Amino acid sequence: MLETRGLSKRFGAVHVTRDVSLRLQRGERRVILGPNGAGKTTLFNQLVGETRPDAGQILLAGEDVTGLTVQARARRGLSRSYQRNTLFDGLTVEENLGLAAAVAHGHWHSIRHDSLTRHDVRDTVREVAEQLRLMPHLHARVGDVSYGVRRQLEVAVALATRPLVLLMDEPTSGVGPEMSRGFHDLLNDLPRDLTLLIIEHDMDLAFAVADSITVLNHGEVVFDGSPEDARGSRLLKDIYLGHWADA
Ligand SMILES: Nc1ncnc2c1ncn2[C@@H]1O[C@H](COP(=O)(O)OP(=O)(O)OP(=O)(O)O)[C@@H](O)[C@H]1O
Ligand SMILES: [Mg+2]
Repeated sequence: MLETRGLSKRFGAVHVTRDVSLRLQRGERRVILGPNGAGKTTLFNQLVGETRPDAGQILLAGEDVTGLTVQARARRGLSRSYQRNTLFDGLTVEENLGLAAAVAHGHWHSIRHDSLTRHDVRDTVREVAEQLRLMPHLHARVGDVSYGVRRQLEVAVALATRPLVLLMDEPTSGVGPEMSRGFHDLLNDLPRDLTLLIIEHDMDLAFAVADSITVLNHGEVVFDGSPEDARGSRLLKDIYLGHWADA
C-alpha cells in the first residue's frame, strides 16, 4: 500500500534520511521508533510531499507519487496528523472536522458555511467523531477543549479526509499515561483496512498497536521487523531502547 525505495534527504552535510526503504501492506500498522533527531518527522514530510527527497521513490498503492504535490497525494489517499497542533482554534470541533471532510468530498474550491451542512460532509463528521470519541465535544470551540481532546481531534481531522494510509506523528506527545492508554483503544477501533504509520515515543503504546516496527537512527533504518524481534534485538538495546527491553 505504501512503499519507499532508497529515500534519501540531506540538509547541508547532515543525512537526515539515508537510503530508507519501507514496505507496508494494506491494513498494516507500523510504528516508527528512533531517538530525537533520527529523521522520523522528515521522513513523514517526504512521504506526504512537504519535503522533496534528494533521491529515491515513494509509491502509494503501487503508483509512483514522488513527483506529486501534497494535495495530489492526499487525493490518492495519503493523510497525516502533525506532531504539533494545526487546528483552527476559533472554530468548533464539528467545524474543524467539517472543513476536512468538505475537502475530502471535493468541495475544496467552494468552501462556504453551507458546505458543512451537506449530507456527505455531515455523515463523515459524525462517523469520525464517533470513532475518535469526540461526540461530547462536537460544539465546543477548539480553543476551549483540553489538550488531550485536541490530540484526538488532530487524528480525527486526518481521518475525515478518508485516507487509505494515515500517518500519525506522535499522537500522544504531551498527554499523560492514562490518555495514552485511551489512545490505544482509539487506534484499535479504527477500520482494519486502514494502513497506519505511527511515530511514537510511548513504548507501551507502540508495542500494543504495532504489527511491525521500524527503527531509525541517524536517518537510517537500523531495524525492521516484528515487535517480538524488536524486543530481543541487542542493537536496539544499545542505541535506544535499553529502558524497556529488559523490562
Ligand atoms: N528544514 C530543515 N532544515 C535543516 N535541518 C532540518 C530541517 N528539518 C529537520 N532538520 C534536521 O534533521 C534532523 C532530523 O529531524 P526530524 O525532525 O526529522 O527528527 P525526528 O526523528 O522527528 O525527531 P523528534 O523525535 O525530536 O521529533 C534534525 O537534526 C533536524 O535538526
Ligand atoms: Mg519528529
